[in-house]
Amino acid sequence: MKELISFIRFPVIGDERGNLVALEGNKQIPFDIKRVYYMFGMQPDLPRGFHAHKDLIQVAVCLQGSCDILMDNGSDKQVVTLNSPDKGLVIDIMQWHEMNNFSADCVLMVLASDVYNESDYIRDYSSFLSEARK
Ligand code: TYD
Repeated sequence: MKELISFIRFPVIGDERGNLVALEGNKQIPFDIKRVYYMFGMQPDLPRGFHAHKDLIQVAVCLQGSCDILMDNGSDKQVVTLNSPDKGLVIDIMQWHEMNNFSADCVLMVLASDVYNESDYIRDYSSFLSEARK
């Protein structure tokens, strides 16, 4: 089974003007990036996510502020805090994830291996568990 928690640390190109992170598909990000989306203006008491994907791989990067992500592979669960724009959390296939505890300034960017496809989602937790345990 794949690791439940896998972070990618991004190289930071910094000088007196500030910092720059460059992300390329099949380089820092381990797939072809087909889609980028980001969330902002979240409420700390209104969690998001609550799904897994059958085929999609994603990398979540908290560009500003912080949030918690619960990762669940059907056997183990772990909550990790994302609070740094120089690291990405890999959300692999069949990893149930729930995001919550957003700071007011949180900006959460996600790089995805494919375009949006609702049929790739598993949004029912008991269906996820039965798929994950196969
Ligand atoms: P939703 O899956 O509820 O977000 P989260 O995973 O954060 O809980 O998505 C919210 C809405 O945005 C929903 O109507 C689907 C739409 N959406 C897109 O159109 N394209 C996308 O790439 C994503 C991620 C969502």
